[in-house]
Amino acid sequence: MKPIKVGLLGLGTVGTGVVRIVEGHQPDLQSQVGSPIVIEKVLVQNKSKERSISIHPDKLTEDAWDIIHNPDIDVIVEVMGGIETTKGYILEALARGKHVVTANKDLMALHGPEIIAAAQENNCDVYYEASVAGGIPIIRTLVEGFSSDRITKIMGIVNGTTNYILTKMSQEGAAYGDVLKEAQELGYAEADPTSDVEGLDAARKMTILATLGFRANVALEDVDVKGISAITREEILYAKRLGYEVKLLGIAERQDDYISVSVQPTMVKASHPIASVNGVFNAVYVYGEAVGETMFYGPGAGELPTATSVVADLVAVVKNLKLGVNGKQETLAYNEKKLKTDEQ
Ligand code: NDP
Ligand code: HSE
Repeated sequence: MKPIKVGLLGLGTVGTGVVRIVEGHQPDLQSQVGSPIVIEKVLVQNKSKERSISIHPDKLTEDAWDIIHNPDIDVIVEVMGGIETTKGYILEALARGKHVVTANKDLMALHGPEIIAAAQENNCDVYYEASVAGGIPIIRTLVEGFSSDRITKIMGIVNGTTNYILTKMSQEGAAYGDVLKEAQELGYAEADPTSDVEGLDAARKMTILATLGFRANVALEDVDVKGISAITREEILYAKRLGYEVKLLGIAERQDDYISVSVQPTMVKASHPIASVNGVFNAVYVYGEAVGETMFYGPGAGELPTATSVVADLVAVVKNLKLGVNGKQETLAYNEKKLKTDEQ
């Protein structure tokens, strides 16, 4: 039973969860894939930083090439964030035949097609379940669970930080700045939380969901985006008195060959199930022509929920390795078809 060796890029909120799950669930993982899964090396910015988990100092490196150019490493798990540098690392890893798991929606929303094409060229896997809605396996659900259907609408709360902020403002009358700080301390927010509060993080996730759900190439610039930074506590409390909750909703709709995708603060009737999605939780509604209405609910951010999705992807890669079918998961590939938006 040759161990599967993993190079982990990043040991922050998500990376720490990945180490905890790989170590803590090792017997369960091994029983599924038939080999030990070993975190061989971990990339960080600062090796001397105090960490909430103990990790052997020899495993830490500040040099990404120690991992990407290491012939013993089979799979790269990218949980460091960022776009251009990270894209370079991932493309180089794929060129060297390493499979990739990433939680990086910024990267996948902008460069997904290029990365997936590079993976297929090199018979490698790229999985990115954690990039949307943290612990909810919504990507697999869309591409596999609904492969038989024609999806016409995807709607939901796909950013945990803003839902946490809006919930606390509504339920406790908390101040925006204080709750944003809390969300950062809890590890929910992006390194630069502007992308959370201005709706860009949700727009990136809706780009991925619409692309996969509608089986078409939807671009980030097709998404109309408005965030929550201008919303006051008074407005939220006033909406509440009228029987509404304010939620940051992503809505992607398709009619024939036309699509519209938007992210905006929306007044949701208190009786609607989405109004009760609170705190860091996310919910995604999927409407299919055959299935009708479905809803998926769970934690949208945070250490262990997100790492659950990352490690599930890792298990998928290792199962593919055993079967010799890496790079063949067409269901996660982007389709070239471009749908028309309002502007076209
Ligand atoms: P953190 O900021 O907590 O951690 C980032 C880690 O990457 C740190 O260990 C940091 O090193 C390391 N790192 C960052 N840049 C570099 C670099 N240039 N070179 C070497 N190491 C680097 O991020 P998160 O864990 O919160 O998020 C990681 C990714 O997962 C992001 O893409 C994010 O969007 C995504 N994600 C996050 C979720 C969450 O709930 N937090 C949920 C879903 C996805 P050091 O520790 O030394 O500073
Ligand atoms: N910052 C993101 C959020 C992390 O709050 O939803 C999960 O993608």
